[in-house]
Amino acid sequence: MRILVVGRGGREHAIIWALKKSPQVKHIFCAPGNGGIAELAECVPIEEKQFDEIADFAKKQAVDLVVIGPDDPLSEGIVDHLEAQGLKVYGPRANAAIIEGSKVFTKNLLKKYNIPTAAYESFENYEEASAYLRKQQIPIVIKADGLAAGKGVVVAQSLEEAENALREIMVDKVFGESGNKVVIEEFLTGQEMSILSFVDGETVKPMPAAQDHKQVFDGDKGPNTGGMGTYSPLSHIPQSIIDEAIETIIKPTAAAMVNEGRPFRGVLFAGLMITPQGPKTIEFNARFGDPEAQVVLPRLETDLLDIILAAMDGRLSELDIRWSDQAAVCVVAASGGYPASYPKGLPISGLDQVREALVFHAGTAKKDGSLVTNGGRVLGVTALGASIKEAREKAYAELDRIRFDGMHYRTDIAKKALV
Ligand code: AMP
Ligand code: GLY
Repeated sequence: MRILVVGRGGREHAIIWALKKSPQVKHIFCAPGNGGIAELAECVPIEEKQFDEIADFAKKQAVDLVVIGPDDPLSEGIVDHLEAQGLKVYGPRANAAIIEGSKVFTKNLLKKYNIPTAAYESFENYEEASAYLRKQQIPIVIKADGLAAGKGVVVAQSLEEAENALREIMVDKVFGESGNKVVIEEFLTGQEMSILSFVDGETVKPMPAAQDHKQVFDGDKGPNTGGMGTYSPLSHIPQSIIDEAIETIIKPTAAAMVNEGRPFRGVLFAGLMITPQGPKTIEFNARFGDPEAQVVLPRLETDLLDIILAAMDGRLSELDIRWSDQAAVCVVAASGGYPASYPKGLPISGLDQVREALVFHAGTAKKDGSLVTNGGRVLGVTALGASIKEAREKAYAELDRIRFDGMHYRTDIAKKALV
């Protein structure tokens, strides 16, 4: 098969790495890809949102399957667009990708179907939102309705911070149209976990749970990022809680989407909080997580292409998906300054010294034949081991061989799982 993967991050590198293991895969293209992906796939200079160019390229190259990585093109209907051109595409259509694209949609869906989530109200009017906010307890969570590159959520520790966030979203429109509506939500306490599932209508095949580290600094300090590191499995969280989340949140949500005439086909990512009252939904994403994919896919023993093809034929329920017992830890190395502004084009060295880990590139490019930084999150080092402890030690030891100016990473990835 000839496959085109759309995206340019560590997630897409991990997807391509997993697809490449399939004996059925003949050739992989990636639009636009990055410096590391270029080692496994033929990168083509087409951007994720150039739907017409992607369709033309896929048809001209007789691509059998297009796999979409990121959220933006999914929300904007890339799947519908490519399908209308007769292409086979893996990912949710726009009417299902809305589960990530609109927080108001998802909160209303969860409320309608009695699926556990934080209490909330949504607003289109700034004055009303502001009046409601003043009556709430602190901390409180303010969320822009639409996509905001992971920055549209503010957990406010004071009323002033909450009011500022609300003003920035609704009045200053720092996230543009994404701030036309807001959700004001109860603050939940507990541990977070991510459960990604292969979903085909009502069929849900959960992947092993993972945990991300969103804040930029050790000890969960500093601003939120796209994700600084992940690990899987969550050996310190009882399986009964993970099962409860699957039964009370993920399966009912997939069924609700079918009932709403919006069947979800693709990877459904549930961001969950394990509260004293049990797991509750924080958010849904309509795609693999980044860097969740970088710890989950290396544990997948079943052929990823078989899973995708089964889901596309409505045969996912027949498939027995196998996972390795090994633990995986991914540590992300970021550019100096990230998640604020950062330089690009700095040389990266030491990759050829890495022996016992997978390096998934996130923001790298080839310049005159050598590898340079080209994004905020530059790369993620994933190591596998018999335990989280072993995988973690290996990931850090291998990361230590890699260098670029300003490189920084968290030193406490997966530390919670060591107790
Ligand atoms: P999201 O973009 O919805 O994943 O939110 C980003 C982060 O904000 C989450 O990973 C949580 O750490 C935090 N967060 C979101 N909603 C809540 C909530 N209701 N209570 C506590 N923390 C939250
Ligand atoms: N790592 C979080 C996300 O992909 O949204």
